[in-house]
This record gives sequence, structure tokens and C-alpha cells, in this order.
Amino acid sequence: MAQSSLSEIFESYTNTVGLFKDKGALSSDFSPSNIPHREKKIEELAYMLAPVLRNEKPSNIFIYGKTGTGKSLCIKKVTDSLEEAAEKSGRNVKIMYINCKMGKVVDTQYRLLVKILSMLGENVPFTGLPTNTLHKKLNEKLAERGGNIIMVLDEIDALLEKIGDDILYNITRISQDVPNTQITIVGISNKPTFVDSLDPRIRSSLSEEEMVFPPYNANEIKDILQARVETAFNENAVDYGAITKCSALAAQENGDARRALDLLRVAAELCEREKCKKVSERFVNSAQEKLDKDRLIEIIKAQPKQSKLVIISMLNLYKLEKKAVQTGDVYNLYEKLAHANGLKALTQRRVSDLISELDMLGVINASVVSKGRYGRTRKINIQLNKSLVSVLKNTLAGEFTEDFINF
Ligand SMILES: Nc1ncnc2c1ncn2[C@@H]1O[C@H](COP(=O)(O)OP(=O)(O)O)[C@@H](O)[C@H]1O
Ligand SMILES: [Mg+2]
Repeated sequence: MAQSSLSEIFESYTNTVGLFKDKGALSSDFSPSNIPHREKKIEELAYMLAPVLRNEKPSNIFIYGKTGTGKSLCIKKVTDSLEEAAEKSGRNVKIMYINCKMGKVVDTQYRLLVKILSMLGENVPFTGLPTNTLHKKLNEKLAERGGNIIMVLDEIDALLEKIGDDILYNITRISQDVPNTQITIVGISNKPTFVDSLDPRIRSSLSEEEMVFPPYNANEIKDILQARVETAFNENAVDYGAITKCSALAAQENGDARRALDLLRVAAELCEREKCKKVSERFVNSAQEKLDKDRLIEIIKAQPKQSKLVIISMLNLYKLEKKAVQTGDVYNLYEKLAHANGLKALTQRRVSDLISELDMLGVINASVVSKGRYGRTRKINIQLNKSLVSVLKNTLAGEFTEDFINF
């Protein structure tokens, strides 16, 4: 790019007022002072946890609800404020917030214990000690500390998928083993069915209190967005129609407030790039496309190689036939590509499962058509737009030779 045009870009930024007053207010870790439509939940949580201010142990709480329904936000709000109140009144209360899904932090029982110990000011090596030693250290540390601990295990389903539910049993037992310390667990899950999968003993101790966060409806999301628009944007920078559109789209997607905020943020970025002064509905539509595309690319990148070959086979066939492709044809091509690629071809049955998985992930749209006495075969509609196909080519090109990629 020529230097003069670069300086034009930068000048256009220095000489004008942008859309944003405080862009950080649209980021995922921003904590809004106003949390509409969750006043009741926040109050209930506050009452549930307040007994620590009288040195009593609250019930363990289990919170569940779909992504983006405000669970993490509300628990943080309540525990922050509780921590302050405890400090002011000199109560011995410690809040531990652990997001079980964040990176590698807690993918083993050992790591979780290391994390908990470090939050208690005890640094232990990341590997090498027997887990029992860590449990002992933890009990010692807790006995020394005393008082109440509120341990928030956010996205607890991720933790249990990786390390099983023994750990919860162990933690719920700590209160009995260390008499002067009381631990209250607040478990949070995005999967409503998660509690049903727990061992009944653990379930009953974990969910002494249960709280459900329902999805937001379009009007509720609109209120949330409007409050955020006031903090994040300069006056008149966002069209009312754009807010309505973001809310409607997010309401369709499980009432996810995070999605609404993402849509608004990306729409504003696209608007800024076009040097437009007002975020309108048009940018929200483009934002939706961009977010869907990014999501799909992430999903496809994360697939195992065999799945990627199935995707490539479908795309190649689709280009050739320009219409819905059939499972049998996909398999034949896949088999060839697998051999050419030095991989052992999976069975047709297994490939069929992979196709179902891709369907569930939203990469493709597979519909079953009956084929009489030859049994069932699936017609697969591939829903992809042109720009996505070229991005996919680039994504997959690094991993496979060019002759594979004929779409
Ligand atoms: N009632 C609300 N008011 C303001 N912002 C909200 C509200 N509910 C959710 N959000 C915002 O939406 C996003 C998702 O909320 P979060 O608490 O992370 O959802 P969950 O933990 O249920 O997946 C966050 O950026 C959060 O700030
Ligand atoms: Mg959360």
C-alpha cells in the first residue's frame, strides 16, 4: 500500500470523532453497572450468599441456563459486592472464581488443586507431587485460614467432562474435614441437562439451591443493548433499527445477549471501516454474516483430518454437480482422497456419523431422503456462500495438496 494512502487512513482517524465513546464497554469482560432484567436473580443470589456475613455457611448453589443469559455477569456482580461488604465488616470471607473452561487451567484434578492453592497464596509446582499431597496441603491451608470460602466453578460441565466428578465430591467433603472452614460451591453450567448426568450424591449436595437463567426475549435484549449503546457510543451513532435487528437476531439464537453485543460491535467496526457515521441495519446484516463465517471457519479448523477430508469431498462434489450431494458419492470420493493422502479410510458407517456431526455443528445441512429398497441415503445440502468457499480453500490449503481442493 502506498505511503500516502496510509497516512490518509491515519489522518481520517485523527481528524474526526469516531463512533465510540468507550469501545471497551462492548468487550466481553466489561462489567456494566446496570444489569436490566436480572434484578430479581441478583437479589436472590445476594440473599442466598449473605449468611457468610454472619459467619454461617450458605447452601451450595447450582446455576444453569444457556450461554449469554447473564450467569457469569450476575454472580460476579454479587460476589464483588459481597467481598466489599465482608471487608468492611471485618468478616473472614474469601471469594474464589474459577472459569473451568479457560485454556488449560483446570484440565486435571492436579491443575485445579494448584489453581485453588495459588488463590490461597500457596505456590506449588505445576507437576510432580502426588495429588494426595496437594489435598493435604489444601486442608492445611484452609485450616490455617478458617472462615468462609465461596468457590464459584463457572462452566463446571467443562471441568467434569475432563476430570470426572470425584473432585466435586472431594471439595464438598472439605467442610467436614476442616471444621473451622466452610466452603460454599456455586456451580454454573451452560448445559441445562448437566445436573442429570451427575452422581446422585454429588447432585444433591451441589444443588441444595438451584437457579435457572431463562433466555432473554427480543425486548429484553433490546433494553440490554440500549443501555450499553449509551455507554459505548457517541450520541446518534447507532440507528434504532440496528439495535432492533441485533436484538431480534440474538433472540432467535437462544436469547443470547453475548451474540447481540458481538453483532453490535462487529457492525460498528464495519461501519467505521466504511467511514459511515451511523451504524445502520445494513451493517448488522453484514456483521451476522461475518460472525457466522468466522464461527464456521473455527469449527472446520478444529476438525480432525478425516472430517476435513469429508468436507473437502462434499465441496468438490458440490462444485461438480451444483446441487445437493448424496452420502454414497461423498463416501466414494472421500475414500479416494483418504488413500491419496496416506490415511486409512474410515468405514461408510463412520463417515456417515461424521456427516451427522457436521450437520449438528451447522457446517452443512443434511436431510434424509428415503431411497426405497436400497435403504436410506442422505441428500446433503451444502449451505455456503462464495466468500466462505474461498476462505475455506485457504484454511484447508495449508494442510492438503492443491489437487485435493477443486472447489
Ligand atoms: N442483563 C444484562 N445486562 C447487561 N449485560 C448483560 C446482561 N446479561 C448478559 N449481559 C452481557 O452479555 C454477555 C454474556 O453474559 P454472561 O454473563 O457472560 O452470560 P453466561 O455466563 O450466561 O454465558 C456479557 O458480555 C454480559 O456483560
Ligand atoms: Mg458464563
